[in-house]
Amino acid sequence: MNNYKRYLVTSALPYANGPLHIGHLAGAYLPADIYVRYLRLIGKDVVYVGGSDEHGAAITIKAKKEGISPREIIDKYHASFKETFKKAGISFDIYHRTSEPIHHQTSQDFFRILNEKGSFVKQTSEQYYDEEANQFLADRYIVGTCPKCGHDDAYGDQCEKCGSTLSPTELINPRSTLSGNAPILKSTTHWFLSLDKAEDWLRDYLEKGTLDGQPHHDPGEWKNHVSGQCKSWLDGGLQPRAMTRDLEWGVDVPPEIEGAAGKKLYVWLDAPIGYISATKQWAIDQGDADKWKKYWQDSESKLVHFIAKDNIVFHCLIFPAILKEHGGYVLPDNVPSNQFLNLEGQKLSTSRNWAIWVHEYLNDFEDKVVNHVDVLRYNLTRIMPELRDSEFTWKGYQETNNNELVNNLGNFVNRVLVLTQKYYEGIVPELDTSLDFIGSAAPDEAGNYEAELGKIYSKLQAYCAAIEGYDFRGGLKAVLEISSLGNQLLQFNEPWRLIKTEPEKVKQILHLSVQIVAALSVACRPFLPNTSDKLRQFLNLDLVKESGELSEILTVLERGEPLVATGHTIGKAGHLFSKIGDDFINEQLEKLQNAAPAEPTFEALKEEATFDDFTKLDLRTGTVVAAEKMKKAKKLLQLTVDLGFEQRTIVSGIAEFFSAEEVVGKQVVVLANLAPKKLRGVESQGMILMAENEKGELGFVSPQDGFGNGFTVR
Ligand code: MF3
Ligand code: ZN
Repeated sequence: MNNYKRYLVTSALPYANGPLHIGHLAGAYLPADIYVRYLRLIGKDVVYVGGSDEHGAAITIKAKKEGISPREIIDKYHASFKETFKKAGISFDIYHRTSEPIHHQTSQDFFRILNEKGSFVKQTSEQYYDEEANQFLADRYIVGTCPKCGHDDAYGDQCEKCGSTLSPTELINPRSTLSGNAPILKSTTHWFLSLDKAEDWLRDYLEKGTLDGQPHHDPGEWKNHVSGQCKSWLDGGLQPRAMTRDLEWGVDVPPEIEGAAGKKLYVWLDAPIGYISATKQWAIDQGDADKWKKYWQDSESKLVHFIAKDNIVFHCLIFPAILKEHGGYVLPDNVPSNQFLNLEGQKLSTSRNWAIWVHEYLNDFEDKVVNHVDVLRYNLTRIMPELRDSEFTWKGYQETNNNELVNNLGNFVNRVLVLTQKYYEGIVPELDTSLDFIGSAAPDEAGNYEAELGKIYSKLQAYCAAIEGYDFRGGLKAVLEISSLGNQLLQFNEPWRLIKTEPEKVKQILHLSVQIVAALSVACRPFLPNTSDKLRQFLNLDLVKESGELSEILTVLERGEPLVATGHTIGKAGHLFSKIGDDFINEQLEKLQNAAPAEPTFEALKEEATFDDFTKLDLRTGTVVAAEKMKKAKKLLQLTVDLGFEQRTIVSGIAEFFSAEEVVGKQVVVLANLAPKKLRGVESQGMILMAENEKGELGFVSPQDGFGNGFTVR
């Protein structure tokens, strides 16, 4: 790990306009939390900041829809986020919010400096305007058809279906989300950041890892999908980007600047500056108001942003450009963005309610799943979408809990504690290292006390390397491997048998096992903080305070010495994890299905037809008077339909949905002038009108009962 003096770690500031789901947690919060807890465990100076993103069009639009103020929305979600993160164990040093005055000041100061430095160009252009709402329409205020994929509800800044970044003028058939009206064009002036001028140094920074000709970071440490996205932005050529908006809600453009009236900062200008304001507030809370500076302005500080992939351009290009234009700030050393998490085969979707809401999980499962917070953290880390999209399933949740947490980790810890209590009244036994036993690696391995401590040591080294390389799945795997070694040590040596024949050997095995539990109590901490606390209580050791404990145990193990001394009295084992049954899982699946009804998909409208086109069709009311299933044709019924003036034979493809018996007597509408056609040897003299829904189910189009046959439908 390159030698930085201190770390400033951030998680994306969530928009305060809707609850958090497990995809958010696995994307930007859990990985950052694992990382900072780890850094603290190796004794690093780290500040971890977060907060709510309280500006942006989505918030005002929601407020308008609900008939309340943006303030009410942000207060509600900010409070809920803060509580949710706390319960989930996300260990922010500060959880701030962008509506605070200190943030408005900080982001206005940035704007002033960039303005003075000539980083902006002022441009007047025609933008969409809603005449009814008297408002310019940018970003989420405007929707239309995506020019890239044809999605009907693409936003002015992004298509959520294909992920393309858009500008409002690219939308086909644009309409206002405020009134639904088609907008007009009206001219307005804005400040544009000259990203085009930053292209060269950004390319060096991102592709070579150099800044001002000096090595800055190792670009090889960046994830491929992050570098790839940056490259494609650079290759596409950077354009000046508007940094202001015509809005009512947001940070004011500093009022002394000419033309500022009615203008607000673009949310993607102010929000990342929120990381800085949060650090400022943290410093004030620490009683040393200038303390934030060394984290942001000293080149020996390492800045790392944890985000999800839809935020990459803002954190890798735009925010660095803002920081560099301002001058005096460090730039991100890495932006370990995650990809997306899916849920049971489908995209997580707030609007469709296809989600597991974090606050609901935290509240509802406390009594249902033992150690429910850590069980979720474990599951989400195990499937974390670090390099590619991944999927949460309830089945997977159950299996990892039962097989890995209960059967591996929980089982090992429980056996060690119970046996130590039973044989030695909880006192860590003295050991005679000259006695032989079976090593934990294989049933035929000659055991050696120091070698066993060495195995834990090297697993911990692999663990450190994984976490430092942002491979949190790898780090978690190493934790479970340590526990597996412990289980094998017990399995191969069977102390419960040996105690009768060679009790002296058992002392060595249990003494070693206690050391493994102690190592686990530290190593599991970044992933499973509550489990760490429990293990420490079971062992009767001080809780892990995350101040260098991992470094300490590495030093001790490297010396070949035990972590828990002979003679130490451990506590009693309690419940760590317990099995999750099928009923519980089925309940969750059902709940999910009920909460998110299948989304109907509608066929695209056909080309316009004239009234003349329509009148060519002769549609008549009729009644089915006889019906039979056609031989060797699964889908077809042969119907006799009374049209009043005559009877018709019609072959209809409805047999998969209706039996011959149930259609007799049905009122129908018939396309009566359709050219006759032979189907399976029978001449069909017309067509019955049927509707087909998104599941392919058919429904009759019928006049009301007793309407009569032969009348024209128009
Ligand atoms: N609110 C944004 C989102 O949810 C993230 C903002 S991150 C910040 O996508 F850097 F701008 F703060
Ligand atoms: Zn699209």
